[in-house]
Amino acid sequence: MNNVNEQQGTDSLTRLVLRQPDDWHVHFRDDAMLAFAAPYTARQFARAIVMPNLVPPVTTVAAGEAYRNRIMAALPEGSAFTPLMTAYLTDEIDPNEIETGFKNGVFTACKLYPAGATTNSASGVTDVRKIWPVLERMQDIGMLLLVHGEVVSPDIDIFDREAVFLERVLGPVLNDFPALKVVLEHITTEDSVQFVEAAGPNLGATITAHHLRIDRNAMFQGGLRPHAYCLPVAKRRRHREALRKAATSGHPRYFLGTDSAPHPKHEKESACGCAGIFSAPVALESYAQTFEEEGALDRLEAFASEFGPRFYGLPLNEGTVTLNRQPQELPELMGSEEIPVVPFHAGETLSWRFAG
Ligand code: DOR
Ligand code: ZN
Repeated sequence: MNNVNEQQGTDSLTRLVLRQPDDWHVHFRDDAMLAFAAPYTARQFARAIVMPNLVPPVTTVAAGEAYRNRIMAALPEGSAFTPLMTAYLTDEIDPNEIETGFKNGVFTACKLYPAGATTNSASGVTDVRKIWPVLERMQDIGMLLLVHGEVVSPDIDIFDREAVFLERVLGPVLNDFPALKVVLEHITTEDSVQFVEAAGPNLGATITAHHLRIDRNAMFQGGLRPHAYCLPVAKRRRHREALRKAATSGHPRYFLGTDSAPHPKHEKESACGCAGIFSAPVALESYAQTFEEEGALDRLEAFASEFGPRFYGLPLNEGTVTLNRQPQELPELMGSEEIPVVPFHAGETLSWRFAG
């Protein structure tokens, strides 16, 4: 869409019309949280890659299909939203189950959680070599691998876990499966930016709205700030700057993936708080704000609506969405008494407002 007037820049732009975007990484949960969270994503995005880290995780075709049905049931009547389901890889996962799910259209991709890396990852993969046969099958059938890129060894500093993963795990995977398409999810470091750029066409990366806006200081501003805690944890400022440059560069292997991950307020504000930032209510507005700050609003559409489907080999969406330049103040709290959720940007005012 041609929204940007070259002479005037974007300050005078009051309306932004984009091809309808997709979210290539989101957490919906189940039950009351699913009913609360899913409509926000379905309002802004045509499709989303839905994470399988439920309890128990989505490891079978039947579980994937049942979860897809629960998501559809949680959406407003007549919603045209398409959830794209993922299978949760475990040490014991059966390549035939994965292939069946892929071939019958239930699973779009598989998700690799190193065991213990994040929320509900206890049944994840303990040693990536254990899933070599599954990766081989995925490569054969053209199914994407989505990766939570952090090592979990206790001797590795939490701020180094992503960089070490590149060397110890991702490098060997790409080397042994050169035709496997891999998405390095929610990248947080300059190291990952360099790694993605040096890699061939089969490696892409998603970048969240929050990692473009917060660095690790956000967790400690005037006290401990659990609502800025997510995994991979936000890093130093220079890493955030590298991510902003990457996302707004127009490079076709970076695309939108919010990693919107709702947790009830009390489970984040706890002695052992959950990782996750709930950005779905204002995901597009947040990205728009960052792209505008970087002088790159004209590149938002490709990042949000073109590079993802092209990497996944899916058609681009036909419809459009509109953002108006209209201040929007986010509430401190959303959800209900039963599940209060603090959204990303709580209490802040954003310059753009999603209009449908
Ligand atoms: O911050 C995160 N929250 N990172 C993840 O990897 C998982 C997610 C969740 O499920 O809460
Ligand atoms: Zn995630």
